[in-house]
Amino acid sequence: MRRAVCPGSFDPITNGHLDIIARAARLYDEVHVAVMINKSKKGLFGIEERIELIREVTAGYANVRVEAFHGLLVDFCKERDIPAIVKGLRAVSDFDYELQMAQMNMGLTGVETLFVPTNPTYSFLSSSLVKEVATWGGDVSHLVPPAVLDALTQRLRKE
Ligand code: PNS
Repeated sequence: MRRAVCPGSFDPITNGHLDIIARAARLYDEVHVAVMINKSKKGLFGIEERIELIREVTAGYANVRVEAFHGLLVDFCKERDIPAIVKGLRAVSDFDYELQMAQMNMGLTGVETLFVPTNPTYSFLSSSLVKEVATWGGDVSHLVPPAVLDALTQRLRKE
């Protein structure tokens, strides 16, 4: 069985993330979406909410599993016998830090990192920008799946 992981914060998942997950799901038998628990950074959505949203929007992919993780990504991979990390690269500016992480992870356990060029439609897209634009009433309906748009609208109405 060929397994890979798509890791991230996913606060919340965007169409850019979904595009990478969908492409990984075509290349691998099993894709684990690993949602990082970062106790020092309070997100807009809690971990369980993020996981619920990702499960909802990836429901059409039978080989995608969604799980939380804390600690090192390489340990998550080792525990599940996952030899590959799949990451989207939006622009050259992503490359420096992604290369450092890929080389660190390779040095730690030998796990490979595969970079997938982001669909140009989403090359400017990030969860942070989506939240900022949505906070000020901008239209993000073309940038996130409908379930995420609903969740964002409800959450920002409460804030
Ligand atoms: O969506 P993000 O916030 O850009 O995702 C970053 C993430 C979760 C992929 C990265 O921070 C990570 O892998 N964190 C886990 C901790 C870890 O393994 N750190 C060492 C990286 S070399």
